[in-house]
Amino acid sequence: MNILLIGSGAREHALAAKIAASPLCDRLFVAPGNPGTAECGTNLACDPNDHAAVIALCKEQAIELAVIGPEPPLVDGIVDSLENAGVAAFGPSRAAAQIEGSKVFTKELCREAGIPTAAFGRFTDAVAAKAYLQKLSPPMVIKADGLAAGKGVIISKRLSEAEATVDDMLGGRFGAASAEIVIEEFLEGEEASLFALCDGTNALPFGTAQDHKRAFDGDEGPNTGGMGAFSPAVVLDDALVENAMERIIKPTLAALKKRGTPFRGFLYAGLMITKEGPKLIEYNCRFGDPECQVVMPRLMTDLVTAMLAARDGMLGKFTVRFSQRPCVGVVLASKGYPGEFARGGEIDGLEAAGRLEGVTVFQAGTRRDGARLLADGGRVLTIVGEGKDFAEAHRRAYAGVAAIDWPGGFHRRDIGARALTGEW
Ligand code: AMP
Ligand code: GLY
Repeated sequence: MNILLIGSGAREHALAAKIAASPLCDRLFVAPGNPGTAECGTNLACDPNDHAAVIALCKEQAIELAVIGPEPPLVDGIVDSLENAGVAAFGPSRAAAQIEGSKVFTKELCREAGIPTAAFGRFTDAVAAKAYLQKLSPPMVIKADGLAAGKGVIISKRLSEAEATVDDMLGGRFGAASAEIVIEEFLEGEEASLFALCDGTNALPFGTAQDHKRAFDGDEGPNTGGMGAFSPAVVLDDALVENAMERIIKPTLAALKKRGTPFRGFLYAGLMITKEGPKLIEYNCRFGDPECQVVMPRLMTDLVTAMLAARDGMLGKFTVRFSQRPCVGVVLASKGYPGEFARGGEIDGLEAAGRLEGVTVFQAGTRRDGARLLADGGRVLTIVGEGKDFAEAHRRAYAGVAAIDWPGGFHRRDIGARALTGEW
C-alpha cells in the first residue's frame, strides 16, 4: 500500500524507518519530511495544516493510509478531514485529540472516570484563581488550558510568583490558549512516559520511556521539547505498567467511547510515579519526541499492521512485542535552543556515526545543500544507541555523538545516567 506520513521531526524519521521496513508498504511519502525521511521514502512539500492540500496529495499519490505524527494537525481535525474524504487515517479525531488540546477537558475526564491525577481547580477569573492558590502549599502548578508549544506550564515556589503567573496567563499571555487556566497540586515522584496503541475500545501497552526535558545537565536550564530519552523506563516495571493500564488508560478509553468520541491512535500518558502509584500528569494524542526514537527501534511487531489494526478497531486479539534490549537517545540541538539560535551551520560525521555498531542517527531540523548537510532547526539530530544493557546502549549513543562534527550544536552528557545507576 501507499502510505503518507505527516511531520518533519526525528520522531517522524523513526516512524518512517519502521513504515518503510514493513512488508505492507509499497511507497512511503512524507510531508514535509526532512533529509532523514528522504532516505526512507519520498518527501513532498505540503503544509500539514492545509487540509485541502493534504487530501489532494493523498488522491494524487493513491494513499491508502495516512499517519499523523505531530499534535497541531490532529488537534485541528486532520483525521476527520481525511476520513471524510475517504482516506484511511491513523490518529485520533479532533474531538478525541482534545485530550492534548485542552487541559481542562482532560482534568474533567479524569474526574468523571476516577483517574488518579493531581487535585485541581479551573479558572477564567483571576480573583477566584488567587483564592484557590491561598489554599495550596508551594510549589504550585499553573497551566494554560490550550496548546502553548510546551511553554504553558509554570511551577512556582512562591505565592507572589504564582499570583503573577495567574495575571499573566489570564491576561492573554498565550491568547485563547490561556483564557482558562488549571491550577493543580504538585506531585512528588519520578516521571515516565507510557504509550498505548488504541483502537477506540482496546488499548495495548506500546513501550515506556523517560524523557529529559530541561536543556542542561543535571536537569538545569529551561524546559525544552526533550533533550534525550531512554527506553524502557526503569521506574515503570511490568506491575506498574499493568496498574497504569487498568487505572488510567483503560478508564480513559472507556470514558471517551461513552462520550461518543472514541480514541484511536497512540495515546501518550505522562505519568508521575508517586508513593501511591502512577498518577496522570498529562495526556498527549500522539507519540513522544524524543521517546519515539528510543521506542521504535525496540519494536519487533510490524508497525503498519499494528496501526491498521488500531484504525480498524481490531486490537482485541492483537499483540505487540518489544525487544528487551534498551535504547538511549541523545538529542543534538542548536546552541541557544530553546531560545534564539542560528541556522545554516554544517554538520559532518553522520555516515561515520551510523556505521558504528548499534548506533542509529535520526534527523530533525536539517537541510541539504548539495552534498552538505546544514542545521536548520532547534532540535537537529537524535543519536540512538542500543545494546544488551543500559551501559552498552549508553556507551554506543555517546560514541555516535562523538562521531558528529558540528560546532554549532550542544547536547546533554547525562542522558540515561539514572538508568545506569538505578538512582532516582
Ligand atoms: P505538562 O505539559 O503538563 O506535561 O507539564 C510539563 C512538566 O511540568 C511535566 O513534565 C512535569 O515535569 C511538570 N508538571 C506538570 N504538572 C505537574 C504536577 N502536578 N506536579 C509536578 N510536576 C508537574
Ligand atoms: N517529549 C515530550 C513530548 O513529546 O511532548
